Formats: sequence, C-alpha cells, structure tokens
Amino acid sequence: MTDPTAPPFPATQRAGFSSGFGVLAATLGSAVGLGNIWKFPSLTGANGGAGFLLVYLLATLLIGLPVMMAEIAIGRQARANPITALVALSPRRQPWWLIGVAGMVAAFLISSFYSEVVAWVFAYVAKALRGSLLSSDPAVTEAAFQALITDPVQSLLWQWGVLAFIGGILLLGVTKGIEAITKKLMPLLFVLLLLLCAFSLTLDGAAQGLAFLFLPDWGKITAPVVLTAMGLAFFKLSIGMGTMMTYGSYFGNDQNIPATATRVMAADLCVSMLAGIAIFPAVFTFGFAPSAGPSLVFITIPAVFAQMPFGQVLMAAFFVLTAVAATGAMLSLMEVPVVTLHERWGLSRPRATVLTLVLLMVVGAGCALSQSTLAGFQPGGRTLFNWADYVSSNLLLPLGGIFIALFAGWAWGADNFRRALSNQGTLHNGALARAIVWVLRWVSPPLILAVMLRGLDLI
Ligand code: PHE
Repeated sequence: MTDPTAPPFPATQRAGFSSGFGVLAATLGSAVGLGNIWKFPSLTGANGGAGFLLVYLLATLLIGLPVMMAEIAIGRQARANPITALVALSPRRQPWWLIGVAGMVAAFLISSFYSEVVAWVFAYVAKALRGSLLSSDPAVTEAAFQALITDPVQSLLWQWGVLAFIGGILLLGVTKGIEAITKKLMPLLFVLLLLLCAFSLTLDGAAQGLAFLFLPDWGKITAPVVLTAMGLAFFKLSIGMGTMMTYGSYFGNDQNIPATATRVMAADLCVSMLAGIAIFPAVFTFGFAPSAGPSLVFITIPAVFAQMPFGQVLMAAFFVLTAVAATGAMLSLMEVPVVTLHERWGLSRPRATVLTLVLLMVVGAGCALSQSTLAGFQPGGRTLFNWADYVSSNLLLPLGGIFIALFAGWAWGADNFRRALSNQGTLHNGALARAIVWVLRWVSPPLILAVMLRGLDLI
C-alpha cells in the first residue's frame, strides 16, 4: 500500500533550486516585475504617499505574506505542480485542485497581456540603444509610443520574440534556466536601480519627488484606496494563482519558508521604493506631471531622459532594468503551465514548454492586437487586453487567494501546515506558525473577499 502522506513525486526525480541564493533570486525574480516600476510608485504617489505605504504594508502582512507562505509550503510538501499538489494534500477527495485549474487560466491570461507590455519594454531597449527615442517633447514621445502599439506586425513580433526568449530559458530547465538566469539578473537589477537613484537624487527636483512619494496625506486614505493597496499586494507578490506553489515545489527541505517569504517581500518593497526614488525626482525636475501606468513609462520617462546629461545611457539603463525585472516575472508565469503540462499530461518538459509557448502566442495575439487590428473588437466595452487584465486581477487572483487561505487554514490541517512551516519541527517557530494559521483562517479570507467585491465594483 502506498503511503498517502508521501509526496507524489519523490524529490530526487524532480529538478529544484540548488542553493539558498537561487531560491531567493528566483522567488524575488517572480515578485519583482512591471508592478514595481509603474504600478507601485505611481499608486503610492497618487494615493497619499507614506499613508498608502502603511496601508500596503498592513495588507502585505495580513494577506500577502501568509498566503505566500501557504503557497510555498503546499508546493514544497507535495513537490508537484499546483493541481497535483492540491489533489495530493486534500482530505477525502475534496475538489481543492480546482484552485490549480483557475491558476492555470490566470497564468495564461496574465501572461498574454503582461507579455505585450514586456514586448514594448524590449522594443524600447532597442530604441533607447539606437537613440531614436530622445525627444524632450512629450507629444513626440507619445507619437512614438502610439506608432509602436498601433502597428500590428511590430506588436505581434515583439511579443512573440519575448515569449520565445522566455520559453528558451525555460527549455534549459529549473536549475540551469530559471535559477541560473535570475541569479545573474537580480544583482544586475539592484546595481542599475541604485545607479539611477543616485543620479536622480542629485537633480533639483529631488525634494519635490521625494515629497510626492513619501509625504503622508492621510486625507487620501479612503476605503477604495485601502482596497487598491490590498489588490496591489496580491499582484506584487505573485500570489493567488499557483506561481508561488510551483516555486515552493522547487524549495529545498531545509529552506526556512517564513524567513524566505519575508525577505522576498521586504526586498520587493525596496525595489518598488527605489524605483519611485529613481523616477519621481527626475519627473519633477523637468516639469512633468506624475502620470500613472504605461504613459509614465513609455511617454513621460523618455521625455525626461532626453533632457538629462547622459540621457541616452540612462534611458537604456532604465529600460534594461525594466526588462530584467519583467523577465523574472514572466519566467514564473510561464513555468506554471509548463510544469503542469509536463507532470499531469506526461509531456516531456521540452514539449510542454513548446506547447505552452505556442498556446501563449495564439492567446496572447488577442492582447497584442488589441491596440491595432482588434481595437474595434470590444465585447462588453473592453478590449481583449483589458479583459485579460480585469478577469485575472479582479476575479481569479483574489478568488485563488481566498481558497488558498481556506485550504491551508482549514482543509489541509493546521498541524500539517505548521509542521511544513517548521521544517518538520526542526525550526523553533511554533508561535509564528500558529499566528500564521490563525490569520489565514480568520483574517485573510474576509479581507480578500472585500478586495474582490471592490474590484468587481460590487461594493
Ligand atoms: N509580481 C509581478 C509584478 O509585480 C507580476 C506577477 C503576477 C508575476 C502574478 C507572476 C504572477 O510585476
């Protein structure tokens, strides 16, 4: 008779991250992404500076970190893709594996629109290196951006190029692909970011930029802003769709899960704040309004760099930095379907990678062409790009988060979960583990439900 508590795939048969630094680099690589460069700084600035930061921190502590720890613990315990992991750990054949199915759908939807934004970033790296973006007139940089996104051939080719690049890394495997590349990219990211920050802080508008980012404006902390902060915590930490479960399945048995998750969260927060420190002093120095989203990155920033000494070099550094951040996030997004197809459908890993790549090229094309050929196709008032973003961020991630919290807090069994968090009792973190279980049972699910209802405009 087989032991029901034994992992479905013995650890020796599966690849994994080979060192503590590799674990940290890959997991941080997933968390750090486009979210740090344009979502976090502009949302913080626009929603009350230090006040928003505080709310974001609370949301991270009450939702983000516990759910992240739960995902990693589930993945490591089962040493399998999210669907297999949830089948293996569920009591009495309860259908918790549906979380894994929803996660697969979310991975496809997020990858298809995210890869298009990453495509623009890669296109901008090329443009910045050629120096073709250098104009201090935002009307010119806006025209350049529009020309790129409304050209169906360029949009599609850049997106497919990005997907093929990420697929190529995944073909090298978990250790030689994901881990090896993120170990190189993460230090590069910090170096570039610190250089840009140091430069930005020497500019005349530094004080104004820092005030925009950090000065608390408590009047702006309204209920919708609190909920926005919680939604951001989800997206930022790549939780609610099985990414962290998948990466958790590559963690070594001796990895301290609560400590690693906390480090990743803290380092991710640092990157977001440094990105803000790099961006806003420059934006204010040259008299621009701090806009949000794609227009900040693709229209305002090129115009700002055009006015700086060494503008071309700094702009190239900025877009390379953004491309580096996005690469780690894309790797983790695509790894979820790759490992699931590999383990559940018995495809070899290379075949699973190629199949994921082809499927993403097809599904992603809908998002790539949303600004051009398919711009008029807006069922329900949204382009396919906006639908993919809306359904994944506002429905699938929060739903996944609620059920992951409920699974870890109740269904899996508090004892099993606590044992996993303490590495079978070798770490003496009993009080912490009990607190995490308590939060996952009683605090996270109702809070996440509030985020979701808000995201769907129901409250
Ligand atoms: N955390 C990534 C970012 O900030 C986005 C992401 C979400 C990546 C979900 C993987 C899974 O950009």
